[in-house]
Amino acid sequence: MEPELPPIGLGTMGIEDPDTVARAIELGYRHLDTAQIYENEDVVGEGISRADVPREELTVATKVWADSLAPADVHRSTEESLGELGLDSVELLYVHRPIEAYDPEETLPAFDSLREDGLIEHVGLSNFTTTQLEKARGILEAPIAAHQVEYHPFYWEEELLDFAREDGHALVAYSPLAQGEVFDDPVLEEIAAEHGASEAQVALAWLAGTEGVVPIPKASSEEHLKANLAAAEIELTEEERGRIDGIEDAEKLFE
Ligand SMILES: NC(=O)c1ccc[n+]([C@@H]2O[C@H](COP(=O)([O-])OP(=O)(O)OC[C@H]3O[C@@H](n4cnc5c(N)ncnc54)[C@H](OP(=O)(O)O)[C@@H]3O)[C@@H](O)[C@H]2O)c1
Repeated sequence: MEPELPPIGLGTMGIEDPDTVARAIELGYRHLDTAQIYENEDVVGEGISRADVPREELTVATKVWADSLAPADVHRSTEESLGELGLDSVELLYVHRPIEAYDPEETLPAFDSLREDGLIEHVGLSNFTTTQLEKARGILEAPIAAHQVEYHPFYWEEELLDFAREDGHALVAYSPLAQGEVFDDPVLEEIAAEHGASEAQVALAWLAGTEGVVPIPKASSEEHLKANLAAAEIELTEEERGRIDGIEDAEKLFE
């Protein structure tokens, strides 16, 4: 299903330098993830304009925060986001969290209308349960293009993966490096040594090698940006994947 997302995208939460974004694009990143609440859409937009890569090659995703999910606010928030990004439209707009002002009957038709107006191409959801996804699917005219959730070797929900595969949407994995915690795990350390790779790369290879899953690691340094893209080339064996699946540490970062 559209949009076709590359195996590794770029998370931008906390990125404050447009040159980091421009460098990432020039290194090969094509899927950029931001959100109104990160307060850096201007940085991402400036990075896009500095990079020597045609706009149509990029998938730009942003999100509407929970306090702006009433229909008029969805429109206002999206116009603001586009203004900050300096873009006429984005490929993907997410409901950031189904809390506070989220009302499926009100919020989701507003997302559909943004699509009709050409301000967004696809609708994404983030931090939904399967029950909430089912409900949203029944209301949205647009297909669910992506569901973005916390997903790393220490926390993921099989149920959401099954649902994504059945529905045909991408499961976009946020905090795929567990915000750096992947470096403290002995299983990842062992597998990394076998591949001459880092624990971060092994975590990303495990995610990108899971059908339907698209990790969006955030990185700032050129070294990290390159290493994360290269992780898509690492092929883990079934046995190694099984060892990572078996890591027992159900530590969720975000509630
Ligand atoms: N939808 C949601 O509710 C939600 C919630 C959280 C996050 N997100 C999205 O997911 C993205 C990623 O998640 P995240 O930012 O929470 O954490 P993350 O990607 O799991 O981890 C980022 C951290 O890992 C470091 N890092 C990156 N590549 C590395 C490498 N190869 N070797 C060593 N360290 C490395 C980064 O350092 P440097 O910056 O120094 O390179 C940074 O400190 C966010 O940026 C955001 O776009 C969405």
